[in-house]
Order: sequence, then C-alpha cells, then structure tokens
Amino acid sequence: PVLWAAAALFGYLSGSIPYGLLFARLFGLGDIRKIGSGNIGATNALRTGNKTMAFLTLLCDVLKATLPVLVFMPFGILPAAIAGLSAFVGHCYPVWLRFRGGKGVATYIGVLFGLSLWLALIFAVAWLATAFASRYSSLAALVATLAVPISALLLGLPVVAAVTAAMTLIVFWRHRANIQRLKAGTEGRIGAKK
Ligand code: G3P
Repeated sequence: PVLWAAAALFGYLSGSIPYGLLFARLFGLGDIRKIGSGNIGATNALRTGNKTMAFLTLLCDVLKATLPVLVFMPFGILPAAIAGLSAFVGHCYPVWLRFRGGKGVATYIGVLFGLSLWLALIFAVAWLATAFASRYSSLAALVATLAVPISALLLGLPVVAAVTAAMTLIVFWRHRANIQRLKAGTEGRIGAKK
C-alpha cells in the first residue's frame, strides 16, 4: 500500500507539470490556453507556429509519464501501471491549473513506452496512419487509444488492458468538444492555425 501510494504520488506530480504552458511562456508566446483550441498539448503548441516549442512539449509530455513507470517497474507491473495512470491523470487534471489540464494523448504513449513497447508501437502506427489520412490530431488520438486496450487483451496483458481502458475512457471524455467538432466538420486540422 505504501508502495502504491508512492507510485501514485510520484506519477501524479510528474504528470501534472504543464510543459506546453511553461514552454509557451518561456518562448514568449503568451498563454497557450488563449491560442487555438486552448489546450496545453503539443497539437495546440503547433498552432503557435513554433515547431521547436511544439516538439519540446511533445517530448516532455511523453517522458513525464515514461519516467515514473520505469522507476516503479522493478517493483512489478502493478506499481508501474499505477505510476503511469497517475501521471496520465496528473496531465489531464493538474492541481496547479485548478484541474484543467490537457487531453492526455502524448502522456498516454509515454505510459506505453514504459509498460509495453509493442503497445507503444501499435499506438504510434494507429495515430500516424489516421493523422496522415485525415490530418485530424483528435481523430488519430481516438483511434489509437481505442486500439491499445483491445491489443493489450489480445497480447495477454490484463493489468495493462484494464489501466489503458480507463485511460482511453478519459481521453474520449477530454475530447468531447473535438468529437462534436469532428461530427460538425469544423475540427481544426494539424498545422492549421485557427
Ligand atoms: O493531443 C490532443 C489532440 O488530440 C487534440 O488537441 O488542441 O486539437 O484540441 P486540440
């Protein structure tokens, strides 16, 4: 129980650091929550026009989840999964931003890099294929995060399947405005400024 609490706390604290917001300020681009979709993630960072800043946001939002998973992996898959899930929750609901955080996509693949490279690969292929075909970052995220828990079950990884299923539900909930825009045909495409 102490181990699980430590995993949850460390994961949450790492995940709750809003790199997109910090980098946008550091690069003198202002408050990213007032740009584009208002989201603090890499897709919206790209809408500032600064690719370096967007890339740094993506990298740090991924690694902030991989790190806690790898730290707790020596104690077993369950503490590692708790650390990863907590990092993901920290990104989506950071106490520092009154629990208004990101949509969890980069942090999701960060968790997978720590838990299962096969699942990270499945996520990446599904995301890239959908993104190339549609130019919708949100749609790519929905397809990729749907593929992961199903694949985890097929690969015989029940703990990972349960944790990623919970994360996928949160991703869909966090994308509810994107889903409405996709239905209405008004969703912004990758790279397009709005
Ligand atoms: O990674 C988040 C992405 O799926 C949607 O971002 O800014 O278009 O709402 P955004």
